[in-house]
Amino acid sequence: MSPVTDLEIAQAAAALHEGRLVAFPTETVYGLGADASNPSALARMYAAKGRPADHPVIVHLQATGQLDAWASEVPTIARRLADHFWPGPLTLVLRRANGVLDALTGGQDTIGLRVPAHAVAQRLLRAFAGGIAAPSANRFGRVSPTTAQHVRDELGDAVDVVLDGGPCEVGIESTIVDVSTEVPVLLRPGRIGVAELQALTKQPVLQATATSPRAAGTLAAHYAPSVPLMLVDASSLDRVVRETTVPLGVLARRSKPAATKVEGWHVAGVDASTYAHDLYAALRALERSKCDLIVVEAPPETAEWDAVRDRLSRAAAGSDIDGA
Ligand code: TXA
Ligand code: MG
Repeated sequence: MSPVTDLEIAQAAAALHEGRLVAFPTETVYGLGADASNPSALARMYAAKGRPADHPVIVHLQATGQLDAWASEVPTIARRLADHFWPGPLTLVLRRANGVLDALTGGQDTIGLRVPAHAVAQRLLRAFAGGIAAPSANRFGRVSPTTAQHVRDELGDAVDVVLDGGPCEVGIESTIVDVSTEVPVLLRPGRIGVAELQALTKQPVLQATATSPRAAGTLAAHYAPSVPLMLVDASSLDRVVRETTVPLGVLARRSKPAATKVEGWHVAGVDASTYAHDLYAALRALERSKCDLIVVEAPPETAEWDAVRDRLSRAAAGSDIDGA
């Protein structure tokens, strides 16, 4: 990876203005960017992802000051969260402002907004001088890309420009909080945890329920690797590996025991942030390892692992194997 030049940023911003698609790094995952005020660019973005048109996307802004142009109402809690966590891995769902395109909101009256911290995202947003709609730069239902190469592998020619900012620091998607209602609701866990959110909201942040606004990331089968994935307790990992007869890929927090026959054994980080950082790259590598089943050692039940557990249980639900 070479540093992204000012010329590349200028060309990428020009491409966005022309209605073309630009994949860019954020600190969470790579986004597939389109001009948030251009309906035909948004249509191309949905087509490139293979995503149903009724799924809302996050609009990325350069600075917190732009919030009021996109949201009609910014409650005190939202303002506090934005002031504290932006730029950063937090998405706020707010009532949308007049003029916000339906294609961004899936027809709902709310809009997801985020100010990313990644330097390349910031430079692109500054050069473009507008909102950039960007879902994760993967085909619908696949794991999010955390490197520029993942984006190219996923989308090929469907994306016009890929800015390579190296591997994403966080590695999993942003925390999403719905602040459009009286009580804040966590729609998707991420690096920023509930305790951190509550320290600022000074009131409970509820977990999403079936009546919460639809978020694609909350479909049970959303984060599906192309090989079935099964979660197993740490204490049963050795037995499952020993007794399974199909070619296995393993994602564990400890190294491969001697004489174990598996197609691939990935050691993920022992702490939650390192684990999240490596998770999607590890799943992609395991998918390519000619295994018929990916076995993942279930992460700890503690709060700091919430986001990782959320993504893994969705990946497991995406397969037709019951993670026991
Ligand atoms: O970290 C991230 O959030 C990355 C980077 C690129 O910013 N983006 C991302 O976008 O993960 P996407 O589209 O893959 O996931 C965004 C999630 C979806 O589940 C979508 O349904 C939800 O945010 N969302 C967006 N706007 C919403 C809204 N108005 N109400 C409820 N959910 C919303
Ligand atoms: Mg996504």
